[in-house]
Amino acid sequence: MMIHSQPSDIRRSSGSTYDNSTYEKMANAKCQYSSMGRTVYLDVDLDKLTSNIATVRKVSLNPTAVVCAMVKGNGYGHGAVEVSRHLKKIGVERLGVAAITEALQLREHGITGPIHLMGNVHASEMQICMENSIIPTVSCREAIHGMAQAINNAALSAHKSLGNTIALEEETAPPAGTIHIKIDTGMSRNGCQPDELDDLVELCEELNVPLEGMYSHFADYEETDFTTNQLNLFYETIKPYRSENYLFHISNSGGIITGQGSELDMVRPGICIYGLPPGGDSATFSDMGFQPIASLLGTPSLVKNLPAGRVVGYGLTYKTDCEQYVATFPIGYGDGYFRSLSNKGCVRRNLTGELCPLVGRVSMDAITFRVSEKPSETETFTLISADFDPVISATGMAEMVGTINYEITTRLASRIPRVYTGKESGTTIDNLVNVQAY
Ligand SMILES: Cc1ncc(COP(=O)(O)O)c(C=O)c1O
Repeated sequence: MMIHSQPSDIRRSSGSTYDNSTYEKMANAKCQYSSMGRTVYLDVDLDKLTSNIATVRKVSLNPTAVVCAMVKGNGYGHGAVEVSRHLKKIGVERLGVAAITEALQLREHGITGPIHLMGNVHASEMQICMENSIIPTVSCREAIHGMAQAINNAALSAHKSLGNTIALEEETAPPAGTIHIKIDTGMSRNGCQPDELDDLVELCEELNVPLEGMYSHFADYEETDFTTNQLNLFYETIKPYRSENYLFHISNSGGIITGQGSELDMVRPGICIYGLPPGGDSATFSDMGFQPIASLLGTPSLVKNLPAGRVVGYGLTYKTDCEQYVATFPIGYGDGYFRSLSNKGCVRRNLTGELCPLVGRVSMDAITFRVSEKPSETETFTLISADFDPVISATGMAEMVGTINYEITTRLASRIPRVYTGKESGTTIDNLVNVQAY
């Protein structure tokens, strides 16, 4: 069995809805996961990812807007490499990450094409951006000087890497050294102040740094007045440059689904491509056609029939009041499962639909649930459902623990195997022998 220092990428072909034989096959994989102590895995449906991208294109006000799909945070927990491969395959034009290491991980896995670095990039990091054809975000003069220096170094070096140092198969790929300037329109995080833009544009011209785009970011799309002010300020700031051939962009998922800023040249969807709503209105989001792409599935690693009066887990927080079955799953807060779900969360027994309550504390590597009858060894349970269920979906769970669905999936540790499903995913579940784990 291959053990790699990368998230698991396991692929199988099947329809996106599971029949019993699929569940059985998954459960049969248990012995293979078990050899690594894992019987819980994240099932990522790539067909739904395709469908969510189509929905982004459909609802964006500019139907030909370039899509820059956000795959930062390990693809919001779904597995950046495999998600990116699929996005490329279905024609998504660009990818967005937050950190250089994330961009390099994609390059190391052969992902070509434009990758935007949305986080602030220090001048000293421009060389590595240029060498790997990563498009950095620039907010200050120092960063532009850093890129100019990197471009000069490359021009001087023997291998004349000013072409594209990393093969960018697309003919339309921007040249190495390309940057986008970010403008702070109210979020006060990254970005130059609006009145600094002209100076930065001039500096790019002076130093021959290829400036391709200008962008901003919404702080809270549900605060309509604030968002409108941000959008107006963005338009006002870029006004002198609108007639020039720059890419202007501001819309994240919230902007896309509410039509704020998606009339511009590029959109930057994140959470919505994973089928999760960026705000409180799941119903409208779902009506638009977005569907969650991931479910966390598993079989118990052990089921016990406990007598009355037994305590379960650390801290002795649960005591059986009668004879009962308690199932252990090999996942815990070390995998990103929230400890605050102790004695609160549920999993669903797929065979019967029963919601089984979590009993006892969530520990680092295990959780324990009560189930009304002994499940078979191969039965599959759902720990996070690919829907908007108030208890076990990522969105429902987020509500329960007082966070946002972004955090639920992004925290899912890379030691949880990812299984990529969907009719286009290529190989079969039987290839589980290729499972890769930390
Ligand atoms: C600059 C930028 N653009 C787009 C996104 C995507 O946001 P969302 O996941 O809300 O669509 C993010 C995420 O935080 C971001 O930082």
